[in-house]
Amino acid sequence: MKKVNVIIFHLIISLTAFAQSPLLIPDYISGSEVQLTLQEGEVELFQGHLTKSIGYNQNILGPTLIFDKGQDVSIDVVNKLNEPTTVHWHGLHVSPKNDGGPHTIINPDHTWSPEFTILDEAATYWYHPHLHEHTEEQVTNGAAGFIIVRDADEAELELPRTYGVDDIPIVIQSRAFDSDNQFMMNTAADNIILCNATIDAFLDAPAQVVRLRLLNGSTERLYNLGFSDDRNFFQIASDGGLLNEPVSMNRLVLVPGERAEILLDLSGDLGKSLTLISYGSELPNGYYGASNPSVMPMGNIEGYSSNNLNGNDFEVLDINVISPSEDAVLSIPGTLVNHIPYSEDDVDRTRSLVFSPGQMGPHGMVNGPFSINNQSFDLNVINEEVLFENTEIWELRNMTAIAHPFHIHDVQFYILDINGSIPSASMRGRKDVVIVPPMGGTVRIIMRFDDFADIETPYMYHCHMLSHEDDGMMGQFLVLPLTTNEINLDPSIVTCSPNPATNFMRITGAPQANLKIYDIRGNMVRDESRIREDQEININNLEPGIYILTIESDKFKNSLKLMKL
Ligand code: C2O
Ligand code: CU
Ligand code: CU
Repeated sequence: MKKVNVIIFHLIISLTAFAQSPLLIPDYISGSEVQLTLQEGEVELFQGHLTKSIGYNQNILGPTLIFDKGQDVSIDVVNKLNEPTTVHWHGLHVSPKNDGGPHTIINPDHTWSPEFTILDEAATYWYHPHLHEHTEEQVTNGAAGFIIVRDADEAELELPRTYGVDDIPIVIQSRAFDSDNQFMMNTAADNIILCNATIDAFLDAPAQVVRLRLLNGSTERLYNLGFSDDRNFFQIASDGGLLNEPVSMNRLVLVPGERAEILLDLSGDLGKSLTLISYGSELPNGYYGASNPSVMPMGNIEGYSSNNLNGNDFEVLDINVISPSEDAVLSIPGTLVNHIPYSEDDVDRTRSLVFSPGQMGPHGMVNGPFSINNQSFDLNVINEEVLFENTEIWELRNMTAIAHPFHIHDVQFYILDINGSIPSASMRGRKDVVIVPPMGGTVRIIMRFDDFADIETPYMYHCHMLSHEDDGMMGQFLVLPLTTNEINLDPSIVTCSPNPATNFMRITGAPQANLKIYDIRGNMVRDESRIREDQEININNLEPGIYILTIESDKFKNSLKLMKL
């Protein structure tokens, strides 16, 4: 096994790189009122040199937000940058207007104040900017933080949960630096590993069972994590919830955007040291971090092969085992929760999303720009319309030469299969990111669109390689209400029927009114004046979807929602 110590590569950059630094543990905020200020800062990542950064309430990263399921929270996000931003609560199930997607812009010196109820299960989530075409830049400059949700089921289990003592959040990010020690964007030279914004980090961990909440916050890189003595550890949670039981493993692949909670039993290791390593040499080609990012021998990314992290094993974090804490957890639970995945029998609709390269040839197949269903992201185009309370299967098919981590907002999904096979035990829980293998790789996921519908604000789905996302590998979907709720709250006897309708519909209660029909993007598709009571209106030629009808006379104006099948 090749083992490359990244410290060697730092010698050129910093003569003092051998001095290890304690892993930074972000402060935390709990309670229902949260204030986050995104601001500029500077950090001393290399001794004696300052790197310009941004962070929430601090120079880099942000405080960990600790919430309880069921809690109502109100958050003030103040933007003190000189450019717009947005903040997305990655993995949380919130309404589209609270989701912080690219439409919810916070201008410089402005405050955005979402309020929502925590509906999520105990797990590890995160927050980061989501400004279209600037996500990579703002995240790379340091804007990201953890969210920990706790709930009653988790509280009943004997698990480590003392923040910063036996319950440690760790965000792993690879970064490229220029000769001035500043972060570089849009490059494959990401050859320095940061753990919680610390280079060459070490953690003093107590000699007991410790819980590591691992987040891959990198732009593109995948990690294949294990420990230097090859010991087994136990994954207890995936992106959006605890697993049904701990899964024993000695390798954990963590893809961009993805989280995993693991239990590491250090109870017999007092005084010893071990290292968290990414075994990049074991990653198959076609995954960013392997020796070739493409499954095609020809395709490559400029600067990739000269980055020593690619195809090699490297250190991520050193762990020194110190005396146990009080109330130490000393055993691994046998079972955790009882989540039952959605069933294929309940599916209302299946849709297929195909990832394709913008240009053919070995380089386009691995460099992008990539698109989903041949559409590049456009803020003004709704790509999919989902119906409220529907269960759907999305079939993700990757026709490019590099694997992509697919992420969807609003929901947690279950993986039905990956290239036709049932996923491994650690991937059978609640997820919001899944890696789709290259060259025809197919993943089917199942999910349910509950609680939130909004006819104007969409949710996003995208590749979580931030450079791909910024380059347009993203789409947006609306969750549309099924019912014919009136839009104007003016209670009126005007109705349209049938609704949903296929070929025709009638308006009752509004003789001699004018009828206009708009599609959900606000384009008028029909204009009928002076309709008769019960007049049959032919809608055969309208595309299936949701329409807004305005019915107007000199006496009243009313709006109705019509669903065309
Ligand atoms: Cu973590 Cu839409 O992203
Ligand atoms: Cu998200
Ligand atoms: Cu991608």
